[in-house]
Amino acid sequence: MGTIRKAVFPVAGLGTRFLPATKASPKEMLPVVDKPLIQYAAEEAEAGGAEHLIFITGRHKRSIEDHFDKAYELETELEGAGKSKLLELARNVLPPHVDCIYMRQPEALGLGHAVLCAKPVVGNEPFAIILADDLIRNDDKGVVQQMAEVHERTGASVLSVQEVPPEETDKYGIVQTEAQPDGTLRVVSIVEKPNPADAPSNLAVVGRYLLTPTIFEKLEQTKPGAGGEIQLTDAIAALLEDEPVIAYPFQGKRYDCGSKIGYLEATVEYALSHPELGDRFRDYLASLET
Ligand code: G1P
Repeated sequence: MGTIRKAVFPVAGLGTRFLPATKASPKEMLPVVDKPLIQYAAEEAEAGGAEHLIFITGRHKRSIEDHFDKAYELETELEGAGKSKLLELARNVLPPHVDCIYMRQPEALGLGHAVLCAKPVVGNEPFAIILADDLIRNDDKGVVQQMAEVHERTGASVLSVQEVPPEETDKYGIVQTEAQPDGTLRVVSIVEKPNPADAPSNLAVVGRYLLTPTIFEKLEQTKPGAGGEIQLTDAIAALLEDEPVIAYPFQGKRYDCGSKIGYLEATVEYALSHPELGDRFRDYLASLET
């Protein structure tokens, strides 16, 4: 296996953009067709080599813990009824060699603070961070695995990036880069949610990071920034003064499932390619057009 053994999932956010759906249940449990967003994220991390999944949780996040846990009653019922296919689905949410660790972020002090909560568990090794509401599809090789390969080649921290419409720079961390002789893009500056007029580019960081543990030292020194929160972006800005950070234009299609329209797009496209539902769903969509 590769060098990335641990993945951090910050899941303590309130998910206000999806109210009332997220009033009592976490946005990471919203399903795309038949799997919750957090399971797509966990599977991507596992495919990239992660064996320890670290969830930074908050109130109302118990269902995430339950989702990755054994469900005795359900399994007993399904077993008794001889429903072996369903039993397999309920049981094999994650392969047996993967373990889940849950830590509470007591206050919503920002993404950087959430990541810092993981320090005692991550320790002194490179690790991945996945924001589950950025669903990125690549059926051959997930983005965490792609980034792990870049890290193995270069030893650098890696940020997944994507060009966004220039008027949307104020929704993302935005990087300025310099092409290197080996073809990689080195980050020379990064800024959190700049106004389009001030943005150094339209290259946005999306929800995948692969960072060296030096980020924890930087986070400890990071003061609250945009929105009064401890921003991961500000700690990365400090990191790149000491260590190389690479911007990696990932291969895959991203759905912004933190927005209703992105979530709907993901739902439609995953349904269309679903092995059991795809054909019927395509016929159904066609019937709406006539
Ligand atoms: C966070 C980060 C931002 C990043 C974005 C990716 O923002 O702060 O730098 O570009 O995730 O989805 P949020 O979407 O949590 O406001």
